[in-house]
Amino acid sequence: MPTPPAPDGGSLGAMTILVTGARGKIARSLVHRLLEGGHDVRAAGRDPSAASLPPGVEVVAADLADPGTLGPALKGARKVFAYADRGGLDGFARAAAEAGAEHIVLLSAVGASASSADPIARMHSAAERAVAASGVPWTFLRAGGFASNTLQWAGTIRAAGVVRDPFPESRSAPVHEADVAAVALAVLTGTGRHGGTPVLTGPETLTRRRQAELIGEALGRRLGFEIQDLDEYRRDLARWGPPEVAEALVRHAADAVHAPLPPTGAVEEITGRPARTFAAWARDHRGDFA
Ligand SMILES: NC(=O)c1ccc[n+]([C@@H]2O[C@H](COP(=O)([O-])OP(=O)(O)OC[C@H]3O[C@@H](n4cnc5c(N)ncnc54)[C@H](OP(=O)(O)O)[C@@H]3O)[C@@H](O)[C@H]2O)c1
Repeated sequence: MPTPPAPDGGSLGAMTILVTGARGKIARSLVHRLLEGGHDVRAAGRDPSAASLPPGVEVVAADLADPGTLGPALKGARKVFAYADRGGLDGFARAAAEAGAEHIVLLSAVGASASSADPIARMHSAAERAVAASGVPWTFLRAGGFASNTLQWAGTIRAAGVVRDPFPESRSAPVHEADVAAVALAVLTGTGRHGGTPVLTGPETLTRRRQAELIGEALGRRLGFEIQDLDEYRRDLARWGPPEVAEALVRHAADAVHAPLPPTGAVEEITGRPARTFAAWARDHRGDFA
């Protein structure tokens, strides 16, 4: 059964919380929040020296896809935040169960499904199944599109004040990484709902063109918007994985012109605070585009 909430809604004393993927945007935001809350936090990643985390955080090397590396990370950890590693989570989830973990919060994605034609949905579904099979109580945070996906525009914004994208009318309700981290914090520390598959989105549906305008407003200048050639876009997406992943991202973007994922309200429901707007995300990330 899930661990009951702390009576004061705060720190659960000597409980160690393990945050994997230490270099990740959400992992770093979560580590900072856990530290601020006085929690005993351990961060683990493939390259812990690159995580640049504040003093006071125990940082250990661990690769989720390689169970042989997980012992020091999981030792004594009662709660765990995990990414859906492309290498699979079966060994990790079994090791967490053997180490006595009491709850795993998995960063998953909306649409996670074993039968999907979309390799991203299948990868997240495989991670969910591995965690569920471990017998450790879990919460799967099924995130919608991240506001941070627009960082892919940073190069041309910095170089030429222009956004290049083939889908100006593609719509989404982008979620701020700080809100995903805030939800994870609430679940891990017992102040938010445990269990289930909450779908995390931002508060409002915006076209990519409007997101570009809001980044321009945060920078205090008007940005151009050029319709990018689809093949060039596919080449830009290659960093996310093999060609079928890039193809799935193209399909998502095209589908979301007419059928975007609607905002869900789950961030506010779980954290008690409204989800941050994209305008706020753009202000928080002004430095990435300037
Ligand atoms: N983008 C979306 O719209 C979306 C939507 C739904 C769900 N998701 C999920 O969210 C995940 C991404 O979350 P995120 O934005 O927090 O992750 P991120 O910043 O992209 O980092 C993901 C992981 O990649 C590893 N990594 C390897 N090289 C890195 C580097 N140079 N800098 C930073 N990290 C590096 C890190 O793990 P190590 O420290 O172990 O190397 C890190 O935890 C996706 O993989 C997906 O599962 C994304």
